[in-house]
This record gives sequence, structure tokens and C-alpha cells, in this order.
Amino acid sequence: MLNADTEHNIHIQSPSISSLGEIQKPVADELATFNEYFHSYLKTDVFLLNRIINYLLRMKGKQMRPLLVLLSARICGGITERTYTAATMIELLHTATLIHDDVIDEADQRRGFLSINKVWKNKAGVLLGDFLLAKGLLVAVDTNEFDLLRVLSTAVKRMSEGELRQLKASKLQNTTEEKYYQIISEKTGSLLIACCECGAISTGAGQEERERMQQIGHHIGLAFQIRDDLLDYSIRKTGKSSGNDIMECKITLPLIAALDSASLLEKKRMRWRFRKKRKTTREITYIREFVSRCGGLDYSRRKMEEHAGKALVLLHKFPETETRNLFSEFIRFVIYRKK
Ligand code: IPE
Ligand code: IPE
Ligand code: MG
Ligand code: MG
Repeated sequence: MLNADTEHNIHIQSPSISSLGEIQKPVADELATFNEYFHSYLKTDVFLLNRIINYLLRMKGKQMRPLLVLLSARICGGITERTYTAATMIELLHTATLIHDDVIDEADQRRGFLSINKVWKNKAGVLLGDFLLAKGLLVAVDTNEFDLLRVLSTAVKRMSEGELRQLKASKLQNTTEEKYYQIISEKTGSLLIACCECGAISTGAGQEERERMQQIGHHIGLAFQIRDDLLDYSIRKTGKSSGNDIMECKITLPLIAALDSASLLEKKRMRWRFRKKRKTTREITYIREFVSRCGGLDYSRRKMEEHAGKALVLLHKFPETETRNLFSEFIRFVIYRKK
């Protein structure tokens, strides 16, 4: 269980982690309604687009963001029609950015399937991403939700800035821990902030609650991306090709932390190895072992738990309810998830 025993002291006990299914159960009807909205927005008359969208619908993701929007609305007062609008926009925008991200990262797999760019090539990936992005923003225009539109357009802008910053950092190979947090807070944190904030907006919550929800989203976002970067260093099957960050020379927290504690000579050797674009399986294994041996994984885990802890402290400013417990379990799932 997760406990916040004082303002600043949070315990995250690891046994008996809730599965995503258990967290979804109490909001199963609401998630089903969300899925109806989501599917209705994906209809199109363009033949090729329809084929790709049908493929896309088979590769269902975890739908963590719509769940977070629903939980945020519930904790701020209750789910409304506007909550579904927000959740639909967010999942459309998330899907769009994943498709573009796979083009950028040259990723072959997504959600256990071949990625869109692998099956239909980059051009179709870019266009499908644009289509979903436009659809996502149109949901707000169709429903006159200009507050949601502002929050989500800002999030998409920040996501692009983060991806660009990351692109430059991996070219120059100069990511520091500080730069890393800036990148992940833009490319991932921004949308999770938007989930929590839009959930609050959809209930008509006041400024104080809105800001608290933004902060919660920010810390969940950082913890979520650190977990994702840790998973890339594991050999676990996640539905994405593991080791892709190493292959793409993407410097993330596990490597930054390991390099910080390595000797000068080892640091130099490792930087040289990491910069190589074509890496053999043996080289990837060697990099993984180095990161683990030099404490990069442990350090990242600690940072991830620190952010989850901060999100929990803020969450505990809300009175104890079934929703708050569910929200706590959600945060726990974010940092112990296996995919
Ligand atoms: C993947 O997000 C992109 C990151 C920000 C790491 P998810 O892990 O939520 O992706 P799906 O939607 O479940 O596939
Ligand atoms: C997050 O970064 C991508 C987006 C914000 C779209 P990653 O590149 O690590 O995400 P995955 O691992 O491909 O899902
Ligand atoms: Mg990627
Ligand atoms: Mg990743």
C-alpha cells in the first residue's frame, strides 16, 4: 500500500502491486464510454487511412492517460461530459505523437505489433500522425472547449520542443541530468500535466485545485518517463524493441548516472562505445552491464520513486476517498509497471 504519514514523508511499499485491470475496474463503464467517443472520432472515408486506422485500433495501448483524466475529474468533483471530451482529445494526441516518435526513433515495434512506419513507411506515419493531431484538436473546436484546446495545444507544443531538444542532445551527446529532466518534462510531462489539469477543468475546479493537479501531473510524468527509460535498459518484453534508446544513442538517466560515477578512463571508453550508430548485440549488452554495475539503474529508481512520492504528498491534500486510493494505486502502477 501507499502511505503518506506526514507532509514530507511518503512510504512506497513494493509488494502486491495493483494491476492496471484492478485500477480500471471501478471506472470500467466510464472507460467504455470514453472508447465509444474515441472510436467515433477515428472514422474516415479515405480508404488507405481506414486500413491503417483499423490496424491502429488492434494495437491498443494501456490507455493510462484517459484513466488519469477520469481519476483527476473524480477527485476534483466528478466526471462530466467535458471529461470525455478531454480524455478523447488526449488519447488522439498521444497516439499521434507516438506514431511520429516511432518515425523519429526509427522504431520497428509498438504495442507488440510492427510500428506504423515499419509497415507503411515514414511518409504514411507522418501523415497519419498529422491526421490524428488535427482530429484531436478538432474535438475541442466541435465542442467549443477552448480552455481544453489551449491546455492541449500548449502540451503538444512542449512535446515537440522536448523531442527536438532530445534530437539535438543525442547528436551532440551532451545530455546532463539537468537537461534530461528538462527534456522529459517537455516530451512526456507536458501531456500528463494536461491529463490532470483537463480532468480538473472538466469539473469546473478552481485555480488552486487546478495548480495542484498540474503539479501532480508533472511528477507523475517524470516518474513515468524514468520508468520507461529504465525498461529500455532491461531485457523484459514490453511490446517495444528494448535497447532502442541505446541503439539510437539516446542518453537517458540510467546512463547519465552511471557515467557520473565511473572513472575518467571508463567514462571516455563508454562514451566512445555509446556514440557508435551501429551497435552489435554484444555491445548493447556491455553498455547495459556497465550501467547496472555503476549504479545507474539504482539511482534512476530512486529518482523515480522520489517523484512518485512528491505526487503522493500533493494527492494527500485531498480528503481520503475511494478515488484517492485508486489514484494512489495508479501512481504505484506507473513506477512498477512492466510495460
Ligand atoms: C509511451 O507511452 C510513450 C512515453 C511517453 C514513454 P505509453 O506507455 O503510455 O504508451 P501506450 O499508449 O500504453 O502504448
Ligand atoms: C517518449 O519518449 C515519446 C513521446 C513523448 C511521444 P520515448 O521515445 O522514450 O517513448 P517510447 O519508448 O518510444 O514509447
Ligand atoms: Mg521512442
Ligand atoms: Mg522509451
